[in-house]
Amino acid sequence: MINTIIVKDYDEMSEKAAEEICKVLSCKKNAILGLATGSTPIGMYENLVKKYENGNIDFSEVKTVNLDEYVGLEKDHDQSYRYFMDFNLFDKVNINKENTHVPNGNAVDMEEEAILYEKIIDSLGGADIQVLGIGGNGHVGFNEPDDKLSLYTSVVKLKDETIKDNSRFFDSIDDVPKYAISMGMASILKAKKILLLASGENKAKAIGELLNEKAVTTKNPSTFLGLHHDVIVIIDEKAAKYVKR
Ligand code: GLP
Repeated sequence: MINTIIVKDYDEMSEKAAEEICKVLSCKKNAILGLATGSTPIGMYENLVKKYENGNIDFSEVKTVNLDEYVGLEKDHDQSYRYFMDFNLFDKVNINKENTHVPNGNAVDMEEEAILYEKIIDSLGGADIQVLGIGGNGHVGFNEPDDKLSLYTSVVKLKDETIKDNSRFFDSIDDVPKYAISMGMASILKAKKILLLASGENKAKAIGELLNEKAVTTKNPSTFLGLHHDVIVIIDEKAAKYVKR
């Protein structure tokens, strides 16, 4: 069941998203947070850091599990998702870094890393809330549109359009990794609650398909969220351009 909240702009989306995380933390101090990277959740993290600084939330007992990571970037590369999480959240709040999990994109055996990562998700009992962004093509995590989608954490080849989209963060398009390790669709759906965020018109088509069509298709992986019982979609007016109201 998907509940949709349409807000004015990115800032309002970010505030509302942080409030959803706070609701979970206020009920459960030792919550498992499923976290995402990309430009979309940065404002949510800024709001969470503010709430932490104001003494409104406490991360001391929180554990986290991230969706994905590029294959082949060092952990301290400024475009690695481990770096992103440390920079945007973990280094700014009182979380124990040992309780934070991001797939290792530099493991010697990536297939084994994928299996181990799925075991970590299971050992935590799944996320209490899983934050998701969405790619312009409907990808969630790095689950790209295709004939088949992976169920569990696996190594995935990035689509050319995703490499192009993400090249804005790299010096050149050739520097964008071609592979990533990502939770699969079943891994994501293990979460007790899912919070999908989208801002901007380049997300409008994928969001329109997700919210209007009420059907699943591997051509837009986000549509699988319709199988989950508790999804909140917070989108701004631009991302909601094609949503039937
Ligand atoms: C990346 C990430 C996704 C993210 C998507 C959208 O490919 N793997 O988790 O949702 O990009 O990114 P942005 O929020 O920057 O638009």
